[in-house]
Amino acid sequence: MSASARKLFVTTALPYANGPFHVGHIMEYIQADIWVRMQRMAGHEVHFVCADDAHGAPIMLKAEAEGVTPQQLVGQIAAGRPQYLNGFLISFDNWHSTDSEENTQLSQDIYLKLREAGFIDRKTIEQFFDPVKNMFLPDRYIKGECPKCGAKDQNGDNCEVCGAVYAPTELKNPVSALTGATPVIRESEHFFFRLSDPRCVEFLRNWTQDGRLQPQIANKAQEWLSSESGLADWDISRDAPYFGIPIPDAPGKYFYVWLDAPVGYLASFKNYCGKHGMDFAQFMADPKTEQIHFIGKDIVYFHCLFWPAMMHFAGQPYKVPDNVYVHGFITVSGEKMSKSRGTGISPLRYLDIGLNAEWLRYYIAAKLNANVEDLDFNPDDFVARINSDLVGKYVNIASRCAGFITKRFEGKLSADLPAEGQALLAALREAKPGVRDFYEAREFSKAMREVMALADRVNEYINAHAPWELAKQEGRELELHQVCSVALNAFRLLTTMLTPVMPRVAESVGKFLNCSFASWDDETPLSVINKYEHLMTRVDAKQMDALFDAPEAPKAAEPAKPANGKADPSKHAQQQAHVDKVVAADAESDFEPFISIDDFGKVDLRIAKIVGAEHVEGAAKLIKLLLDIGEERPRQVFAGIKSAYDPATLVGRLTVMVANLAPRKMKFGLSEGMVLAASDDKGEVPGLFILSPDSGAQPGMRVK
Ligand code: MSP
Ligand code: ZN
Repeated sequence: MSASARKLFVTTALPYANGPFHVGHIMEYIQADIWVRMQRMAGHEVHFVCADDAHGAPIMLKAEAEGVTPQQLVGQIAAGRPQYLNGFLISFDNWHSTDSEENTQLSQDIYLKLREAGFIDRKTIEQFFDPVKNMFLPDRYIKGECPKCGAKDQNGDNCEVCGAVYAPTELKNPVSALTGATPVIRESEHFFFRLSDPRCVEFLRNWTQDGRLQPQIANKAQEWLSSESGLADWDISRDAPYFGIPIPDAPGKYFYVWLDAPVGYLASFKNYCGKHGMDFAQFMADPKTEQIHFIGKDIVYFHCLFWPAMMHFAGQPYKVPDNVYVHGFITVSGEKMSKSRGTGISPLRYLDIGLNAEWLRYYIAAKLNANVEDLDFNPDDFVARINSDLVGKYVNIASRCAGFITKRFEGKLSADLPAEGQALLAALREAKPGVRDFYEAREFSKAMREVMALADRVNEYINAHAPWELAKQEGRELELHQVCSVALNAFRLLTTMLTPVMPRVAESVGKFLNCSFASWDDETPLSVINKYEHLMTRVDAKQMDALFDAPEAPKAAEPAKPANGKADPSKHAQQQAHVDKVVAADAESDFEPFISIDDFGKVDLRIAKIVGAEHVEGAAKLIKLLLDIGEERPRQVFAGIKSAYDPATLVGRLTVMVANLAPRKMKFGLSEGMVLAASDDKGEVPGLFILSPDSGAQPGMRVK
């Protein structure tokens, strides 16, 4: 590394470990990866890391619902990461987890240093508590009636009907979304980071306004800093049960997930240092080190207020981030990604159906700039850009000229180039620093536009000299040799400029031209080339249809709502892709796809004795059953069997119930399981038929 080499520590936001990647994650990784690859080509020292964001209530509850430990859930998700990262050529140097030794040690250390410096307060707050689940309820798990307009079934923080904003404790008739129980207000002592401390405010005024941040982000921060109420202190603790890192000297208290999440950047890097014999503390303390975070626009508050303040006041060896690069969101055909089918692109499906990862990398590069703007994925635009830019302009240069060199000149390029060709190559070389600056500034769309404008010039040169005509004419070998040599030298320069975006194509070109694209400045003269192999195919518009129109499969399970409430279109498409395969194998079958015996084992089926059955006032289809399965009190289950049974005839019968279905709050009360009944989906045989065991079976027996 030369003395002018930068030392860069670069991260992308840590994805929640409760679901697979969606295209928004992939877009962020592609943006950062392009920037990082550029830095590596420029000879800088770069360490590019990420990790799973493992902690928090949603992951804890999801694991519980799936009957696994949170660690197992996170482990399953982590195991799925490489196929995406490798598939889209994302070159992280390390992938780790916030649920790790390093993160525990660092988070606790940072907290203790902040406490020492007087930035931690304790306050007793009132919060809703679920008496059934025995836990404090995060806002998103509380529903109730709006205190302003009375609208039913509103969230804990705001009303979708009248727009009112309130505290969850103001809701009328609140219920816990977890158990349907009525939550009670309880007091609990919480720990707060003193964001309102004048030292903090002063530091942040400076850090956010000294010109480092994107103007839109600096303005937003300024708004927050100058709001009338000032910055609120930040509640950084949660009570047990919680999947998180214990707070030192505070039994039963854990760090709120957003405290330890950004520390996960450092934990992943520390883990990496351990594997590569590097000294973490020394690297962080080096004034040359630059720490840069790529993130999306929804998590700016955490990264531009909390995080720099935490780092600043924790002191050595912690380092205040040098910059936070914020991007907008990817939309699909102008729509925000949603869980409903048909919108959003599943990155795995993209790869599965054989779409080229570098097409997406190029498309995203061609549309990204340094502003916090949303970026739209439009299938028609995608096809047009790939086919006209990448194939029509760039690849075309090599495919039109390489054959002549191989067939007519034994693969040797001419070293004696005419003035016009030399001038063209000089123009390309002169354009390189500008393109590099565009990459540096994350103005990728400008970089791509410039490279394509240069490719246009090369194509004009080729067209003007028409090597295919020269090849037919006797005595014009020298010219043919020269024109094709100029074109391939130009192709090499264009490839250098596209390498951060298309590293795999660059690798193939390196084999073809016998050169390397490891360094931006490498201009070692080309001499002998190898046979040209096709570098990239055109996109067929039909492939886009395959990406979007997942065929309707029978009875495909509805996608689970991700516990963090954010869009997760990929999961559905994965299930869909799996279902598609099964359906394709047996188009006539309307059976569900195979599951493993372990999957089946998760369903706890029990013999149940119906000890009570009655009509439900106001419910057209339901019968309320009381089911004895050998527990202290019978379970209450609402069953949609009113059309087929008279409640009186049911009492005393044995049947089969699902005993571990999560309790569900219904309009009429809590339903604590489900009875099984057969019906004809085709509707040819009317009726519903509940199951009965053979005689001798006893309430509570397991059915397997
Ligand atoms: N776990 C937190 C981040 C902790 S960082 C210390 C989180 N995770 S996330 O999985 O919800 O989001 C991860 C990243 O993906 C964020 O930067 C987020 O902005 C980004 N995106 C989520 N949806 C996106 C799009 N539709 N488009 C582009 N990026 C998007 O937040
Ligand atoms: Zn309201």
